Amino acid sequence: MDLIQRPRRLRGSETLRKMVRETRIDKSSLIYPLFVREGNNIEEEIPSMEGQFRYSVDRLPYELERLSKTGVSSVMLFGIPDHKDEVGSGAYAENGIVQKALREAKKQFPDMYYITDVCMCEYTSHGHCGVLCGHEVENDATLELLSKTALSHVEAGADMVAPSDMMDGRVRAIRQCLDKNGHKETPIMSYAVKYASAFYGPFRDAAGSAPAFGDRKSYQMDYHNRREGMKEALTDIEEGADIIMIKPAMSYLDMVSEVHKATNVPIAAYSVSGEYAMVKAAAKMGWIEEDKIVCEMAASAYRAGVQIYLTYYAKELAGFIDEGRIG
Ligand code: PBG
Repeated sequence: MDLIQRPRRLRGSETLRKMVRETRIDKSSLIYPLFVREGNNIEEEIPSMEGQFRYSVDRLPYELERLSKTGVSSVMLFGIPDHKDEVGSGAYAENGIVQKALREAKKQFPDMYYITDVCMCEYTSHGHCGVLCGHEVENDATLELLSKTALSHVEAGADMVAPSDMMDGRVRAIRQCLDKNGHKETPIMSYAVKYASAFYGPFRDAAGSAPAFGDRKSYQMDYHNRREGMKEALTDIEEGADIIMIKPAMSYLDMVSEVHKATNVPIAAYSVSGEYAMVKAAAKMGWIEEDKIVCEMAASAYRAGVQIYLTYYAKELAGFIDEGRIG
């Protein structure tokens, strides 16, 4: 055959394949989600997320140590309180679970970078991401609580806040509140393009945050929509978001690619609990090769355009990067 173009020429050896690789992955771009709960001496495995644990504050440093040994330097903290109420007051309590965890963790591991998830659903008795008026989540009344929550996280030591509630105007409200209180330099990573997704199922088990009635479709996005995702991303940037997150990751990489092309901010994707659980379950059955799937899923997110990747597999991925199996 008289072929001029032979793409296979560049696939002939591992050295050459690595040389022409278009996507590189660095450990510094990984964020590990961590669940902290009330209590003492607790490290309990989450049933629907094998290999992931809820830690009491006293046990958190052990996990942070394991994490920093793998070279992962950023975490996203989620709190699991003991008491919930109608207005989620545990979210912004001075001695709330995330606030306590931050103070302790910062003391022991000051070099770790602490991002906090800012939302009400783990703290409200009804499990919705804001305050209710009847059966509806009240947008504007929720903004004040989210701002208070973000501020209390920053005052307890959070390096960055990540609102995940999907109320309109929350980035502006949080930015104004942080600025007014002297935290002009604290970045906001907005869960901007966040879909109402069944992929969050295992997380809601982990955090006990499933809504007591109804669903989250009046605030999280309809997964049939792409242009609306752009609207959310652009609105949040206008409001002051420094980083835009797309969530979930795997089934939403079209959005990563779109937002990457249309904006100039760093893009993050969150490979959520359901993605993790599916891989774990299939691997346990011996139906897929877990390590290879984890590498492939991660690389596809970076290929689509993320600079930041949140994953429950962060520690494993760091190991694969060390071994030269990915990136
Ligand atoms: C809080 C929040 C959720 C997740 C991250 N922040 C749950 C939800 O929106 O229902 C999901 C993360 C995961 O599934 O791993 N609102």
